Amino acid sequence: MNFKGKSIISFRDLKKDEIEYILKKTYEVKNNKYPDALRGKTLASLFFEPSTRTRLSFDSAISLLGGKYFGIADPSSSSIQKGETLKDSIKTVCGYCDAIVIRHPYEGAARAASEVSSKPVINAGDGANQHPTQTLLDLYTIKEQFGKIDGLNIGLMGDLKYGRTAHSLSMALSYYNVKITLISPKLLRIPIDFKNYLEGSGIKFVETSSIEEVGQDLDVLYVTRIQKERFGDLQEYEKVAGSYKITEETMGVLNPKVKIMHPLPRLDEIDPSIDKLENAIYFEQAHNGIPVRQAILGLVTGAIQ
Ligand code: CP
Repeated sequence: MNFKGKSIISFRDLKKDEIEYILKKTYEVKNNKYPDALRGKTLASLFFEPSTRTRLSFDSAISLLGGKYFGIADPSSSSIQKGETLKDSIKTVCGYCDAIVIRHPYEGAARAASEVSSKPVINAGDGANQHPTQTLLDLYTIKEQFGKIDGLNIGLMGDLKYGRTAHSLSMALSYYNVKITLISPKLLRIPIDFKNYLEGSGIKFVETSSIEEVGQDLDVLYVTRIQKERFGDLQEYEKVAGSYKITEETMGVLNPKVKIMHPLPRLDEIDPSIDKLENAIYFEQAHNGIPVRQAILGLVTGAIQ
């Protein structure tokens, strides 16, 4: 399968065999099959929104395989601040690197960047739209834990309206034989275009506001933060803030074997007392960001085939 030069923007562009290929390569990377594979490769890391995990794991991913990175972590230090367009910035930066990773507050920004870039562009989150590399590490983590994805009941809980990780993950899961349980306040239900996509794919999914109703049936509970920064009206945020909290007490409504995931950062939706439980796999999930992003960088630069 040839990924060389391919941008990773949305699950609308990735077929199931491509997803499975990336997961297979991640397994190989994690087992040290490609030491030094990215030597001589340079990543441009352009973050126009805050990030800890995505930015640092991309930077770490390329360094650990012998490559280099440079970039923008603070948009106020770039010429965008002087009024340069994103497209002009990308047309310039693509001459300095082998691949570009971009996070941007506007939906569609990564796609726009890929249209003018001579190098592959990787979407590290575009507004409330998609976060495909997060989803690939989510899928990898599920597969690592269960040995499979098919047959699982996967609950996505929290901000399904603005949460790009939930959007990407629900779309990717539609390729698998899973049941998706969407748990959110009514105000934060998954947007209609993602719902239409799920309906069109024929996947089984249900929507509810009650974790108590569905908790015992879940194999995975994927908790998300309510995305305060995406609300136009903070009074609307106040109506839903703190809607769900996983505590030792609320663990009682869940399947005792459930695996709890979270893309992080978290606020108060998972109490730190949960971290010590075997159910909690969100830090292992975050650590899988390294091999997944190494595999992606290797594939799109042609260093890994
Ligand atoms: N999960 C995730 O995207 O985290 P960061 O915002 O810290 O990159």
